[in-house]
Amino acid sequence: MAKAVLMEGEKLMCGIVGYIGPKGAVPILLEGLKKLEYRGYDSAGIAVIEDQKLKLRKAEGKLKALDDKLGLEKFQGNVGLGHTRWATHGRPSDANAHPHQDCEGKLALVHNGIIENFQDIKRTLEKEGHSFSSETDTEVVVHLVEKFFEGNLSEAVKKATTELEGSYALAVINQENPDQIVAYRQDSPLILGIGEDEFYLASDIPALLPYTRRVIILEDGEMAELNRENFRVIGPGGNLQNKEIEEIDWDLEMAEKKGFPHYMLKEIHEQPDVMRQLLEKPLRGNGIELQEIDAILKEKEKIEKIFIVACGTAYHSGLIGKALLEKATGIPVEVDMASEFRYRSPLVGEDSLVIVVSQSGETADTLAALRHARDKRAKTMGLVNVQGSTIAREVDQLLLIKAGPEIAVASTKAYLNMLAAFNLLALKMGGSDIAGDGIDQLLHFLREIPAQVEKTLHRMEKPVREAARYIKNWDNAFFVGRGLDFSLALEGALKLKEISYIHAEAYAAGELKHGTLALIEEGIPVVALLTQESLLEKMISNIQEIRARGGYVFGITQDRFASRVEAEVDFLLKTPNTPDIFAPLLGTIPLQLLSYFSADFRNCPIDQPRNLAKSVTVE
Ligand code: F6R
Repeated sequence: MAKAVLMEGEKLMCGIVGYIGPKGAVPILLEGLKKLEYRGYDSAGIAVIEDQKLKLRKAEGKLKALDDKLGLEKFQGNVGLGHTRWATHGRPSDANAHPHQDCEGKLALVHNGIIENFQDIKRTLEKEGHSFSSETDTEVVVHLVEKFFEGNLSEAVKKATTELEGSYALAVINQENPDQIVAYRQDSPLILGIGEDEFYLASDIPALLPYTRRVIILEDGEMAELNRENFRVIGPGGNLQNKEIEEIDWDLEMAEKKGFPHYMLKEIHEQPDVMRQLLEKPLRGNGIELQEIDAILKEKEKIEKIFIVACGTAYHSGLIGKALLEKATGIPVEVDMASEFRYRSPLVGEDSLVIVVSQSGETADTLAALRHARDKRAKTMGLVNVQGSTIAREVDQLLLIKAGPEIAVASTKAYLNMLAAFNLLALKMGGSDIAGDGIDQLLHFLREIPAQVEKTLHRMEKPVREAARYIKNWDNAFFVGRGLDFSLALEGALKLKEISYIHAEAYAAGELKHGTLALIEEGIPVVALLTQESLLEKMISNIQEIRARGGYVFGITQDRFASRVEAEVDFLLKTPNTPDIFAPLLGTIPLQLLSYFSADFRNCPIDQPRNLAKSVTVE
């Protein structure tokens, strides 16, 4: 449905910021946009009210273009809005950049989401005399607000929203009332930051962290009025809401680069710590403490089937989750891409447990899949990173993966903690069956994993850089593995494609001779994963087939298999020893670094790869 609408204009994921208080708004808005740039970087814009006059600046391209345009001309107002845009259709341009304005230029509005019926509204408004200066759906909203405005901005916004279909987080200011911001949320995230005599607005938490950790998360249908002295939240029925202020435990440092050249590299290096953070409480006693899933465990006997539903990298973590959970529980597990789940009429019902996995907790397809599962009365569980996100709030049981803010578009630390969370879940739900080892022994090894991730990072940096020096010159690469290693190979290929723009494909190694071997040519890089003992010999045969046809093979294996693998590959990367079920937790490190260094050699914009955004809030 969204696609038909989008053909006409644009559509965004985007980030919104807002400020009202005693300070100059512009630096706060720009700083906030910097933290939200991962949500889209096709254009950026700000509007502030200075001496009862709206001052706007917008620029196509990254935030820097807006900053350059502003130059020394820093507006003085202390109420304002900012926006960073991600367009799926229609060219990014100054005209399509937000904020958008009404006919008289008194109002400025920013929006994140899709107005599905914008063409109908636009036609009506045009007949009524409104004129438009962009191709965006957003512009109809500000004209609707103008149409309904009779002196009370909140009432006008409320009336406008009754005409809108789609998803939207909005914020509006009116130059004639510099003491107010009005914001509204429907199916797109919006958070209020509560400071000392000042208030903030943002699409995501990192934009607020430099100023406050006290936040209010708006629910669908809620409107917020921010004034200089106070704020209020009004519910869908017009009643005043008594909202709880939440304390966010992320700190600002976690959301900064800390001297690393890119967020991605910083986030790769944060993995030992964030994994410790995730495992610490569950593993502090003898068994696994995981109260989050108590309710599910009580009903375990009633669960006939488990579905894991997610997108992209989170989906890849689900493939590993499936292998672990099936082994541990004996319950059949299906893994679905969230964008496919609803449309294939899955046999999901009261006897199903649906586990949705999402870093952002806002991915539109994953959220829609969750709602579908709830409609079918399935039990639902979320493995989610962002506390307070929509998915985190809508699942029956929430297991936070505690990776902290992930800013680079390519997911790394969230993926690793998703894997670790699946391990906890499987061990808790099924105990020792998972690998035939005693549970105490497995827990001992799991406790050691963060330190081993650290060790892997230290020893990989140099050799992986060398491997990347080879791969960077190729337009194509392959990743092969079997079992858990095949799931890992899929993630390795996605990471390489996403940030280095090298075309990479992952194959189950046994499938090669059913077609793919035709693509193997002299020197082509093939990354072969060999971390699973029971599949080692089979993998070695497949590698021989590849090398016989000229493929250049980079092997990734555990120390204890190195002597068996060494002579079979062209370049060997060794991870520390661990039970095979935990091997993906270490094997993922060289894959992340390989994509990072390849992209770096190719001078790619690593944290913000072309055409992508971090949080995919449109279908
Ligand atoms: C790739 C990547 C994406 C996300 C996907 C789902 O590096 O990050 O494939 O995994 O867009 O996002 P979340 O986890 O936020 O639902």
